[in-house]
Amino acid sequence: MKITLSVIKADVGSIGGHIAPSRRLLETVSNHVTRHGAGLIIDKYLSHTGDDIAILLTHRQGTASARIHKLAWDAFLAGTEVAREQGLYGAGQDLLKDSFSGNVKGMGPAVAEMEFEERPSEPFLFFAADKTDPGAFNLPLYLAFADVMNTPGLILSPNMAKGFRFVVMDVNHTEGDRVIELVVPEQIYDLAALLRDPERYVVESVWSRATGEQAAVAATSRLHNIAGKYTGKDDPVMLVRVQMNFPATGEVLAPYAHGHFVAGGMRGSHQLPLMPVALNTGTSYFDGPPIVSCAAFAEHNGRLTEALDTFAHPFWNTVRDRIAEKTLEMRRQGFVGAAMLPMSELEYTGIMEKLKALESQFKVRRDTVQNDLRELAAH
Ligand code: 13P
Ligand code: 13P
Ligand code: MG
Ligand code: MG
Repeated sequence: MKITLSVIKADVGSIGGHIAPSRRLLETVSNHVTRHGAGLIIDKYLSHTGDDIAILLTHRQGTASARIHKLAWDAFLAGTEVAREQGLYGAGQDLLKDSFSGNVKGMGPAVAEMEFEERPSEPFLFFAADKTDPGAFNLPLYLAFADVMNTPGLILSPNMAKGFRFVVMDVNHTEGDRVIELVVPEQIYDLAALLRDPERYVVESVWSRATGEQAAVAATSRLHNIAGKYTGKDDPVMLVRVQMNFPATGEVLAPYAHGHFVAGGMRGSHQLPLMPVALNTGTSYFDGPPIVSCAAFAEHNGRLTEALDTFAHPFWNTVRDRIAEKTLEMRRQGFVGAAMLPMSELEYTGIMEKLKALESQFKVRRDTVQNDLRELAAH
């Protein structure tokens, strides 16, 4: 029997700026899903990562189901009402369209869904990140599914020896989904050439070449491509099935020990390392640092076990300390050069108006140039 996992997340308001949703807001969203999801969903899990609320659902409606998407959209609408009542910041922030049109993709919320034939044991990981964008998962997915230094399973497990197929999306293309498929290990350098640019090329899904089964799916929406201006970061979600023909849980988690630099933090305009944190953690320093949480589940007939909080383990305390140091090092660089995102990303912020105004004040010193030319001609 096929089961669908859907995770739909949105920021519909938070306490104290962009820190975290209120308890009442979370309860409102959760209660809405319980009440209106009866008979439609099998199970659910609600959590927040920073100011983003993620609704994880199991059901048999397949991916991109209008009923499932509407359930989540309406739950976020109900949440927005409470956010307004409580005076939360950014109430309804990620609901960019006025009316629901069948699928939340392109309307603001981030979505990651996959449908599959359940294995006898179905372990999977649900990742959510705040103050960053979908490209944040590029490096961790590359390391987990294509790099033997990270994933010994690529040489130790016969099930993984055939490698994986990556589907990568060009998120700058707004007229439709522009995708490329690359297989590893054969095309590993081609894959790396694209993934080095995480603001443009984003891993959408990963598939086993041995069995054709889907291993991972990640959200790919870029809000500024929907809204045409900066409205908040496209804080992404991701689902990864683990073990058997896929990497082990520990191989999928290991890349997060690097604290790689991602786009995010203050005003969505900075480069900061991604910090793995416990479930339901808010943000703090410099509207960040960018954070990622991961809940591990087992699932059977669509029923979820309790969530295990993978990054709550003591091992990650040392990692967090190191990433906090790395964050502070980068912040010493303030607004200059590598500390901020490239101009192509900042063009959705207010800096463009400032630069335009300054543009008219620039002058070329014609006299000096002409004098130099005259001098040159005289020689
Ligand atoms: P167990 O023997 O505990 O199942 O672990 C197998 C494994 O490969 C873990 O990486
Ligand atoms: P969010 O996208 O998480 O709302 O953050 C917005 C922001 O600009 C924080 O500085
Ligand atoms: Mg916010
Ligand atoms: Mg957020």
